[in-house]
Amino acid sequence: MSELKEPSILPQGLIDHLQLAEYILVLTGAGVSAESGVPTFRDAQEGLWSKYRPEELASPEGFERDPEMVWNWYQWRRELIGRVKPNAGHYALAELEQISQRFLLVTQNVDGLHQAAGSEEVVELHGNILRNICTKTRQAISDEWIAEHPASPPPSPHAKGAYARPGVVWFGESLPEEALNQALEAVTQCDTIIVAGTSGVVEPAASLPYWAKQQGAVVVDINPERTPISDYADYYLAGNSADVLPKLVAALT
Ligand code: OAD
Repeated sequence: MSELKEPSILPQGLIDHLQLAEYILVLTGAGVSAESGVPTFRDAQEGLWSKYRPEELASPEGFERDPEMVWNWYQWRRELIGRVKPNAGHYALAELEQISQRFLLVTQNVDGLHQAAGSEEVVELHGNILRNICTKTRQAISDEWIAEHPASPPPSPHAKGAYARPGVVWFGESLPEEALNQALEAVTQCDTIIVAGTSGVVEPAASLPYWAKQQGAVVVDINPERTPISDYADYYLAGNSADVLPKLVAALT
């Protein structure tokens, strides 16, 4: 396993492999959006929300217990995400998709920044924060979040007595089946998986790189800090995704 301290020089073996790669799968986590100003999931909750643990807010129980508080936490996050822009790491992945023979981007992020940067094939394992779905049927209600949403969850048009809730996966909930199946299929077929910005602790996303390695894919992990994925990666590139990803793509073009 090659460990790179300084991302300015990338291992030649990695560049040679990527130039011949036939199917590149990318898995991203909150770290890829960190440089856009979106706090990572395990960053301390800020200010007003610092007294709550994410599990209390991003869970069906939390929503059941206090729908208005959970709704307003998401309003606060949606406001923040409405103001942020993709960073160089997002744009590099959009470019990598264009120059790859076969490519799929699977993200744990719910901020829509990959799509905003031009990525076309994006699998959102944990949903999308700007989407609202019905509390009963899970059907989509709106994909665009409108700033003047009321201070409490509006009623759902899909079912009597149901409300709108953010279209994201909450703690204890299952992942969207279609998204998970797409990710699992890609894991069995890719010859390379590039992991960027994830702590590799939340399943099943955290196991995707391991399963890819099991079938012979080369694993690349990009993260300023080591994670369980770094330990079995073929290449661990210590650095910020907004620095490393553009360098990786530049070396291929
Ligand atoms: P975490 O907050 O757990 O981890 C963020 C990772 O990004 C950490 O390993 C950081 O070291 C790394 N990081 C920070 N800045 C970075 C940068 N500039 N470039 C690259 N990496 C950087 O976020 P996730 O791993 O995405 O699930 O969390 C996975 C899931 O846990 C989330 O999707 C969420 C949460 O439960 C749901 O909401 C269902």
